[in-house]
Amino acid sequence: MRQIKKLISDREIQNKVKSLAKKISKDYRAKDLVLVGVLKGAVIFFGDILKSISIPVYMDFVQVSSYGASMSSKGVTKLKKDVEVRVKGKHVLLIEDIIDYGYTLDFLLKHFAKKKAASVNICVLLDKVSRRMVDVPLKYKGFEVPDKFLVGYGLDYAEKNRNLPYVGFISR
Ligand code: IMP
Ligand code: MG
Repeated sequence: MRQIKKLISDREIQNKVKSLAKKISKDYRAKDLVLVGVLKGAVIFFGDILKSISIPVYMDFVQVSSYGASMSSKGVTKLKKDVEVRVKGKHVLLIEDIIDYGYTLDFLLKHFAKKKAASVNICVLLDKVSRRMVDVPLKYKGFEVPDKFLVGYGLDYAEKNRNLPYVGFISR
């Protein structure tokens, strides 16, 4: 039987969200900030960060798809949904649940640079640092996590377990 073991509690996550949101609110004061959530995994983190930010912000979403492990071009990522807000000249902050190989966020950094955003930075809750294949600058980061399959707080296993208020890992 598969079990889910708790790795990061609801309370630890909420404390981290508050401190990240405080830094973001200070760093982007008097700037046009667009928070861009990466669907679907980042939605819960996105909502919590959004509520805790004390400056006015625009918000929008992107969705990407990466090819499966069976394909040789594992790193190739393509855009399924783009933002509707005009980002040219505005400061983009990508909000993502987890960084693993790094391909997704590397692709998105380049995507928003092409749109001539004034700046493009990343806020990621979880960093599976030991698995990184491409170097990606992380301006705001929540927790470094071990190389385990994580679920909860937006992260899924075959589209399930996104609703858990904590982050856990699957064990047998
Ligand atoms: P990357 O391009 O390898 O950095 O992929 C990051 C994406 O892979 C995240 O947005 C997640 O959707 C997914 N992902 C990576 N690790 C996990 C995990 O442990 N649980 C659930 N999804 C994961
Ligand atoms: Mg994701």
